[in-house]
Amino acid sequence: MTNKIDLMCEKAKQAQAQAYSPYSGCEVGVCIKTTDDTYFSGCNVENASYAVTACAEVSAVTAMITAGKYDITDVMITSNKGHGFPPCGKCRQLLSEFAAPDMTIHFTDSDGQFVSLPFSDIFPHAFQPKHVGDTE
Ligand code: THU
Repeated sequence: MTNKIDLMCEKAKQAQAQAYSPYSGCEVGVCIKTTDDTYFSGCNVENASYAVTACAEVSAVTAMITAGKYDITDVMITSNKGHGFPPCGKCRQLLSEFAAPDMTIHFTDSDGQFVSLPFSDIFPHAFQPKHVGDTE
């Protein structure tokens, strides 16, 4: 049986193959798993007006929300870069909104090592929905 990591890697790579990235050449794929074991994938979508670019995480989260799901247990990020591809700061904030307790993030770090880390390790002290209100 294919394990979770292999399955998510395969799904992320399938999404990565659809990346639209003529400007940076970075092809990125993301697969997210929700608490009910549903998987959603996405790729990055660039634009001639560079700031309009959507990261792969945005595409995957958008697919998840469209399906009415909100709780992510795992995030897998793949890319065509041998040197690793950690999630950007904006995407860490995006993912934190929908992180189930103990959400794990899987990616290749800057040393080229595949790592599976608690999300809280790479994004401590997140700005959370509770911070928007008057009291915590
Ligand atoms: N990118 C992602 O898809 N996810 C990230 O977390 C970091 C960056 C994309 C955006 C752009 O298309 C390319 O990688 C280079 O920044």
